[in-house]
Amino acid sequence: MTDALQEIHDFLPCRTPEKWIENALANQDLLLIDHAHCEKKAASTALSLMYRYVDNSDLLNKMSRLAREELRHFEQVLAIMNKRGVSYGHLTPARYAAGLRQAVRAEDPGRLVDVLIVGAIIEARSCERFAALAPFLDDKLADFYNSLLKSEARHYQDYLKLAVQANGGPVDERVGEFLAIEKGLIEAPDSEFRFHSGPVG
Ligand SMILES: [Fe+2]
Ligand SMILES: [Fe+2]
Repeated sequence: MTDALQEIHDFLPCRTPEKWIENALANQDLLLIDHAHCEKKAASTALSLMYRYVDNSDLLNKMSRLAREELRHFEQVLAIMNKRGVSYGHLTPARYAAGLRQAVRAEDPGRLVDVLIVGAIIEARSCERFAALAPFLDDKLADFYNSLLKSEARHYQDYLKLAVQANGGPVDERVGEFLAIEKGLIEAPDSEFRFHSGPVG
């Protein structure tokens, strides 16, 4: 295992349940469609931070680069879907991101710190899920997921650094509060399978 992945495992409050891996393998088309949505959403979140915090040059640079990478991932997922005859379409939103965002403070600078922490957690979980799934996938998808997990590990670090910077000091306590919420969202039974859902069925 790479050091980056080890760091992600140490950071997250739990591993992906085995039941979710079974769900994913039984719903590979849906996995790809929702994955495409996640990449697009990741780019859009980075862009909205760039609109809101125009005076933070470190944030502007990191988010601009991140948005480009996420859109590139989006295009790569679409290409795989095209090859496999899976068509892109709307999906109902997962409970995961909304569940994390409901704890975000309303006023800045707390709001920015929290949004960045949520970003770090989502990137870390994505990385952990790509790694957990890869051994069970066909070679093509496994190679793709193994390549993605490296950039998501880097995005996790970027978000966390920006959060510490925005907070003007350590964010461990706040991170712990969000991770407690995250653990519930990952482990509690979910009604619909999604890339970041809990186990279904
Ligand atoms: Fe991505
Ligand atoms: Fe990412």
